[in-house]
Amino acid sequence: MYKVTLIPGDGIGPEVSNAMVKVVEATGVDIEWEKVEAGADVIDEFGVPLPDYVIDSIKKNKVAIKGPITTPVGKGFKSVNVTLRQELDLYVNLRPIKSFQGIKSRYEGIDLVIVRENTEDLYAGIEHKIGDYGAESIKLITRPACERIVEFACKYVKDNNRRKLTGVHKANIMKLSDGLFLDVFREVAQKSGVDYDDLIVDAAAMNLVINPDKFDVMVMPNLYGDILSDLCAGLVGGLGIIPGANIGEDVAVFEAVHGSAPDIAGKNIANPTALIQSAVMMLRYLGEYENADKIERALEKVFEEGTRLTVDLGGNVGTSEFVDALIEKIK
Ligand code: NAI
Repeated sequence: MYKVTLIPGDGIGPEVSNAMVKVVEATGVDIEWEKVEAGADVIDEFGVPLPDYVIDSIKKNKVAIKGPITTPVGKGFKSVNVTLRQELDLYVNLRPIKSFQGIKSRYEGIDLVIVRENTEDLYAGIEHKIGDYGAESIKLITRPACERIVEFACKYVKDNNRRKLTGVHKANIMKLSDGLFLDVFREVAQKSGVDYDDLIVDAAAMNLVINPDKFDVMVMPNLYGDILSDLCAGLVGGLGIIPGANIGEDVAVFEAVHGSAPDIAGKNIANPTALIQSAVMMLRYLGEYENADKIERALEKVFEEGTRLTVDLGGNVGTSEFVDALIEKIK
């Protein structure tokens, strides 16, 4: 039996989390979910959006899966997601982007992986005002953080028989910060023996749209990883599909790339695939390969049939009907 911390989140979080739990349980895997809450709704009770007991639960269970959590824009508390990644030192954000047959998109056969540095860069949260005149955010890039993320990416390429690693940066302009990332990328990649190249982030964005086949595994600092993940989601049918894992030395938190989608929350129309695919990654992390495969095959079948797709994919079924279709295939 596994004990997994479950953070349902807010917005569409509770809907997609419920869907994920049902699908995972349909495989028969024995998981006890330790449900804990974080976000704006717990501030009244605990005084903070990320109470200590949430962190403690994840540290104890070592594995967590979470729904999205809303972050106030331009004001208010610091992102719970960013804080969680920093507190638990979850330095890798791993995001596989793969096409499913049956999901309409301008591209076919996409199979890319983004490895995003998850603890520093402009997300370090070091910013201050310059009176009424301006504001300054510090872009923190350190050698140890660059080394460990590139080492992870190289190992991922080897372990998964991938063909190439591309380092994405803007070292032509930010010669010191991104320059350091690029130097470390070249050193570590060279030493590891993987095939590698590098590209500035703006060129990477254009090339991903024109010719995504050029890419395989990509590694990059935090901000570029955030932006290019959404771009890549757009290549395969949107944010409803793409899973993710935040990985540290001995703790991992699985979550979709998408946010809390307040525009569709509570309407039973959210696509739970992204969190379900995050659960597939979690099951593999736990060594539950067969159960992970069962869910993946069910997703493939439902998408191939194409008759029970959620609204974002051009279909007309709700979250719960889509879950029923998956469970039918699993059983
Ligand atoms: P979003 O990802 O929530 O939504 C962008 C668009 O994609 C919306 O039109 C939404 O309806 C659609 N969408 C997203 N997920 C979907 C799904 N599963 N099924 C169908 N459609 C889906 O991004 P947005 O609106 O910029 O952010 C909303 C909130 O989420 C913000 O407060 C943001 O800070 C937070 N956020 C949280 C994340 C996390 O908890 N890891 C990640 C990204 C954003």
